[in-house]
Amino acid sequence: MTKKTWWKEAVIYQIYPRSFMDSNGDGIGDIKGITSRLDYLKYLGIDVIWLSPVYKSPNDDNGYDINDYQAIMDEFGTMEDFDELLAAAHERGIRIVMDLVVNHTSDEHKWFMESRKSKINEYRDYYIWREGKDPQTPPNNWGSCFGGSAWQYDQATDMYYLHLFSKKQPDLNWDNPKVRQEIFDMMAWWCDKGIDGFRMDVISMISKTKEMPDGEISGLYGNFEPYCVHGPNVHKYLQEMNEKVLSKYDIMTVGETSGVTTELAKQYAGEDTHELNMVFQFEHVESDGKYGKWTDRKIPLTTLKKILSRWQTELYNTAWNSLYWNNHDQPRAVSRFGDDRPEYRKISAKMLATCLHMMQGTPYIYQGEELGMTNYPFKDPEDFRDIESIQAYKEWCANGRISHEDFWPCLRFKSRDNARTPVQWDDTEQAGFTSGTPWIAVNPNYREINAKKETADPDSIFHYYKKLISLRKQNPIIVYGKYELLFKDSEDLFVYTRTLENKKLLVVCSFSDRETAFPIPEEFIGANCMISNTENTYDTQTVTLRPYEAFVLQKPDSPQ
Ligand code: GLC
Ligand code: CA
Repeated sequence: MTKKTWWKEAVIYQIYPRSFMDSNGDGIGDIKGITSRLDYLKYLGIDVIWLSPVYKSPNDDNGYDINDYQAIMDEFGTMEDFDELLAAAHERGIRIVMDLVVNHTSDEHKWFMESRKSKINEYRDYYIWREGKDPQTPPNNWGSCFGGSAWQYDQATDMYYLHLFSKKQPDLNWDNPKVRQEIFDMMAWWCDKGIDGFRMDVISMISKTKEMPDGEISGLYGNFEPYCVHGPNVHKYLQEMNEKVLSKYDIMTVGETSGVTTELAKQYAGEDTHELNMVFQFEHVESDGKYGKWTDRKIPLTTLKKILSRWQTELYNTAWNSLYWNNHDQPRAVSRFGDDRPEYRKISAKMLATCLHMMQGTPYIYQGEELGMTNYPFKDPEDFRDIESIQAYKEWCANGRISHEDFWPCLRFKSRDNARTPVQWDDTEQAGFTSGTPWIAVNPNYREINAKKETADPDSIFHYYKKLISLRKQNPIIVYGKYELLFKDSEDLFVYTRTLENKKLLVVCSFSDRETAFPIPEEFIGANCMISNTENTYDTQTVTLRPYEAFVLQKPDSPQ
């Protein structure tokens, strides 16, 4: 049976600090900005903040390249600001989960600056160094996630270092026990400060095979996955981390594990496997690709249902799901899975929220999702700030592999920058995010879509999220009920039930922009409506659902 824990019952809100709230007019969101908006988050009702990295960083990848794990990025403020944020959050009953980026450091981290100096430096073995095949050729054909080779030549010692991301993000060598100990000590230092958990960046990549052969070519480079993802010692290292650090504190952990299957998730996040509490799976956000991850297509509803339902049923009672539509690496939920045309934006955003928050698992809300923020209308590649989008354009398009006409719609639809435009707080200049010039442009729809308007309107997307969160607090069935998919072949409707003891819920979500007839199952005729995104009533045998309608019915308790 599933054990009851606080993190299973929590709703988590992700903050990408650079784009959340700027307190000093330099155009960059910061920690004081976050503190100033805690009452907004409290009002929404969330329990936990996941804070994307705030550590010292040269910002090649917006803080995912860290050069000091125990200091705060200059642009974001100081350690005093952080302590103040933590205390202010705790005062409001909000916990803070930190991003833990330990697959790699910045090349400006002191360990790496030492490591590259000489082959006998005491930090040499903190990173992964190899001889080239010959002076001009890297050790193998692997490509990095951000384009180009995964190896960078370093003149000082005439060798190459591995970087699965940018060349300013060298991969740490987890096989070195000293590296593991440094990381565990650093984690304990944050835990002793009183933080409430870790979101672990690309944690499935920390263990690499010793042999590093060429990978199967996809595009220009070889694929490193079979050698670097879910590698030979990943579970061993996580168990060691759990034993030495995690188990000593009342904290929660979520692993970012791209390529994870339900089988592997049962090991990473099993009830009794002593590794992590839950993982982020990627199947529902990676099954729509056209050119690698780049696409302008929507995932077919039957595929989406199949994936999410498999995760719901396979993990039941053995591991725990995390639930998300978007984050700082994904386009905006309403633009991608819903419908951001003006007449459908609001109703489809509420529908998506219903569909996700009624499933089993811990729901994650990405900043601005609760306002129905949309993708940005990028006009040309100059608009991008993100290293991934900039490099992808160069690699796929500028070198003539695919035409601009074919690639551009895919890039603008999937670019991570869609999620990174500033949070729209009000309808004043720069959406109230900054009094200066923002580091990335504000979405021009901010006069229509902003927090001030949303909080003032009881029928808004914001208030709908608030209601979903409070329903979760009052109804254990939403957290612990067993999931079952109905109408699995419908291309328009996502329908499922949740069952706990003698209680049962029916969740109906239309993903269609047309009206759809829906036959209410016998046992739910006359049931209570828990929440709905329309004024419809559900006491007849067949209801005509509006485009993107969603509702939840609660069967009256059966006699004991
Ligand atoms: C993760 C982060 C992403 C980052 C990458 C490298 O996928 O979510 O933003 O670019 O790891 O750290
Ligand atoms: Ca600032």
